[in-house]
Parts: sequence; structure tokens; C-alpha cells
Amino acid sequence: MGKDGLPSKPIFLLLLVFLPGNTSPTAEPQYMVLLPFLIHTDSPEKVCVQLTHLNESVTLSATLEYQGENRSLIDDVVSEKDVFTCIPFSLPKSNSTSVAFLTVMVKGATLQFRSRKTLLVKNSESLVFVQTDKPIYKPGQTVLFRIVSLDKDFYPLNEKFPFVYVQVSG
Ligand SMILES: *[C@@H]1O[C@H](CO)[C@@H](O)[C@H](O)[C@H]1NC(C)=O
Ligand SMILES: *[C@@H]1O[C@H](CO)[C@@H](O)[C@H](O)[C@H]1NC(C)=O
Ligand SMILES: *[C@@H]1O[C@H](CO)[C@@H](O)[C@H](O)[C@H]1NC(C)=O
Repeated sequence: MGKDGLPSKPIFLLLLVFLPGNTSPTAEPQYMVLLPFLIHTDSPEKVCVQLTHLNESVTLSATLEYQGENRSLIDDVVSEKDVFTCIPFSLPKSNSTSVAFLTVMVKGATLQFRSRKTLLVKNSESLVFVQTDKPIYKPGQTVLFRIVSLDKDFYPLNEKFPFVYVQVSG
């Protein structure tokens, strides 16, 4: 898990787009979309959008296309001149490594910006540790145990285990 407000993955794809016609002395509207290139499933991810020098109110929308479904991440009217916003999202496990598409759109009366990016989606691999309170049990003793699930960077995962079987041997 990342610290609050900070992206948890170091790999970022930076996309900087300027509107054409940069001739006037006043600052032109600028758009920047920051998103991880590689997404891990079941883990908190975020896409960040920075808009600067806006000269009119715009609608900011972001749509995530994954496994044949479109999910709206944000659809907001922005009336400030400068905005920096991060939108959290998380993708469910897929059967294989796959891709998702993220489309960010900014639309106003005169301004228009659209960016569509491909994201690689990788299933998060977890390491599961099961620990019991004793190495050997006598008949009738209660078995106490805990299960810890960590991601590949050894950060705890919020994984649910619906069933745990205890097998008696020996
Ligand atoms: C905002 O800025 C853009 C680009 O400089 C310009 O084309 C547009 O006319 C401006 N809109 C308004 C409402 O001033
Ligand atoms: C998702 O959005 C894309 C682009 O807007 C569109 O081409 C596609 O048909 C949509 N898919 C679904 C399942 O709505
Ligand atoms: C993924 O695999 C499960 C079980 O193996 C199957 O039920 C499901 O339809 C598959 N989903 C996709 C998107 O292929």
C-alpha cells in the first residue's frame, strides 16, 4: 500500500500534451495525465490528471475499459483554472495478463482534449504464510492459526480466504 496521496508504483508513464497554437503571450491551457504503465490486479492504483491555465469551465471524464466493460472513474465539471486530481481505482483478477484502456477527456465550450492509453494488467502474485500456535497438538486441543498474505514487495494484501481446512495426520 502506498502512503496516502502518493502512488504506490514507481513506474509512471508521463504524457504531456500541449494545445497547438502556442503564440499568444498568455499561458495556454495544458493537460497532463499520469498513470502507471503496469497495473497489478486487486491493488490500489490511481490515475492523476493535471490541468493548468484553463480559461473556461470544462468537463473532466476518465473511462476505464477492461474485459469488455467500460467503467467511469470520474465525470466532473471543473471550473478552477488549475486542477490536480488523482482518481483511485482497482482492477479485479483476470485469467491471464491482459490490457486495459484508459481514456481521459476534457471538454469545454472551446477546449477539447482526449487521451487514450493502454495499460498492462498483471495479476498480483501473493505469498501466503500460515502459522499455527504449536508445532504438535494433542487430541482435543484447539488449533490456533493466522494467515498472512503478502504481495511480491512483501506488503500485506487484503486477501480473503473463505475456507481453511485443518487435516489431522500422524
Ligand atoms: C481558451 O484558450 C484557447 C486556447 O488558447 C482558445 O482557443 C479559446 O478561444 C479560449 N477560450 C476562451 C473562452 O477564452
Ligand atoms: C467502451 O468505450 C469504447 C470507447 O468509447 C467503445 O468503443 C466501446 O464500444 C465501449 N464498450 C462497451 C462495452 O460499452
Ligand atoms: C476465467 O476463468 C474462470 C474459471 O476458470 C471462468 O469461469 C471465467 O469465465 C474466465 N473469465 C474470462 C474473462 O475468461
